[in-house]
Amino acid sequence: MNAEFITFMRNRRSQTKLVAPAPSEDDWKAILSAACRAADHGNLQPWRYCIYEGEGRNALGEIYWQHALDEVPTMSLDKKPAFTKKAFRAPAILLVYAHITKHAKVPAVEQIMAVSAAAQQVLLGLNALGYGAIWRSGPACYTSKTKTLLSLQESDQIVGLIYAGTNEQNLDCDQTAKEVNLEPLLQWVRD
Ligand SMILES: Cc1cc2nc3c(=O)[nH]c(=O)nc-3n(C[C@H](O)[C@H](O)[C@H](O)COP(=O)(O)O)c2cc1C
Repeated sequence: MNAEFITFMRNRRSQTKLVAPAPSEDDWKAILSAACRAADHGNLQPWRYCIYEGEGRNALGEIYWQHALDEVPTMSLDKKPAFTKKAFRAPAILLVYAHITKHAKVPAVEQIMAVSAAAQQVLLGLNALGYGAIWRSGPACYTSKTKTLLSLQESDQIVGLIYAGTNEQNLDCDQTAKEVNLEPLLQWVRD
């Protein structure tokens, strides 16, 4: 099992063509409760999740559209569907964000890192249960307006939008895993 787990991590791939069925409610709960076991300095449990499905995805479509309007205020209204449909690229989208607690020893950046670790656990958990997923973001994730639209607090920090569903094409991970050249990335410091 241990070596298999390493192989599983090694072969994880993002999937962009995601169709129904979305993860079931039970599967989400199993994955997210396991994701909450990510490393967590001070046990602050900074992770927060919101799952958008069905017409609920319009709430995310609106953030893409509002961001586009802020970028180009003269944009024609008939362009709206081109932006809102971005939220429909998967049957379910998980918003992952950090709820920051003021703490003398655990700065906000560490809390965001902990939530980032949880997001990676979510990707692995989704793959483990047979679902495909891709972690997305974009400039709309980092604005105050988006936080307002999504009813987040100003001090919250979005870590990502995990698009999840069933792989349209069942990519064979063993054949498509990216090559990793560890050599330039790793140093040993020995005496
Ligand atoms: C914080 C973060 C944000 C990302 N945002 C996007 C994004 O908006 N669009 C995108 O295509 N990929 C995004 N990615 C990258 C994909 O999730 C994915 O890792 C990448 O396409 C490589 O594929 P792989 O995971 O199969 O190696 C993001 C990754 C991270 C960690």
